[in-house]
Amino acid sequence: SSQRKFFVGGNFKMNGSIKSIKEIIERLNAANLSDTVEVVVAPPAIYLLQVQALLKAPAQVSAQNAFSETSGAFTGEISPSQLKDANIHWVILGHSERRSLFGDTDKLVSEKVKAALEAQLGVIACIGETLEQREKGITTQTVESQLEAIANVVSEDRWKDIVIAYEPVWAIGTGKVATVEQAQEVHADIRQWLEKKVSKEVAETTRIIYGGSVSGKNCGELATAPDIDGFLVGGASLKPEFIDICKIKA
Ligand code: G3P
Repeated sequence: SSQRKFFVGGNFKMNGSIKSIKEIIERLNAANLSDTVEVVVAPPAIYLLQVQALLKAPAQVSAQNAFSETSGAFTGEISPSQLKDANIHWVILGHSERRSLFGDTDKLVSEKVKAALEAQLGVIACIGETLEQREKGITTQTVESQLEAIANVVSEDRWKDIVIAYEPVWAIGTGKVATVEQAQEVHADIRQWLEKKVSKEVAETTRIIYGGSVSGKNCGELATAPDIDGFLVGGASLKPEFIDICKIKA
């Protein structure tokens, strides 16, 4: 993991206001983040420009979604090239909430990833099984088929722009964090899949981050796992403990 820069994403989801987001960003700015960790925060779309203007390097801004087309009659959507135009260099795609609530199928997710890469964005690509799938024993199959749909549109030289977020659906927003063993097992599977289907180099260099009830308290233990290269943090990214999570490996 030493060759992979630790990556901490903050997914604010549909939370915050001009005032509260300003406070969160000021806290990050005051935190003196090391550039040995890549910190990327994803506010709701309406606050992207506010955050972009206020946030200090090395922290960066991400969108929570983008569409698969460049422009046109797609009411309510934002395109990857518009993000690029606004100096936003990252986008989260395939989040389980998008998949379960807004019809982001594997196919649509892959089209969005393709479009985001074409616009030169970095992509935080999310995959993960439901509790039902885990209990049926099909966790590996589930995440591998989600990953395959994404990998199909990523050429070998573009993997450097992809961060894979493993987010078991049962751990998201539930306070029920995966154990280090559970997360490490899936992360290792994902890395093996990359080695087999893409290349050894891509497997060794691609960051695989964990998401699902990550907190200031549990992040230290998770961060010891050899194949956990960071976190995608939801609820705790709105709180002061997000700084502790950002600093856990720095
Ligand atoms: O994308 C992050 C996420 O889905 C995890 O949310 O609130 O469980 O940390 P949370």
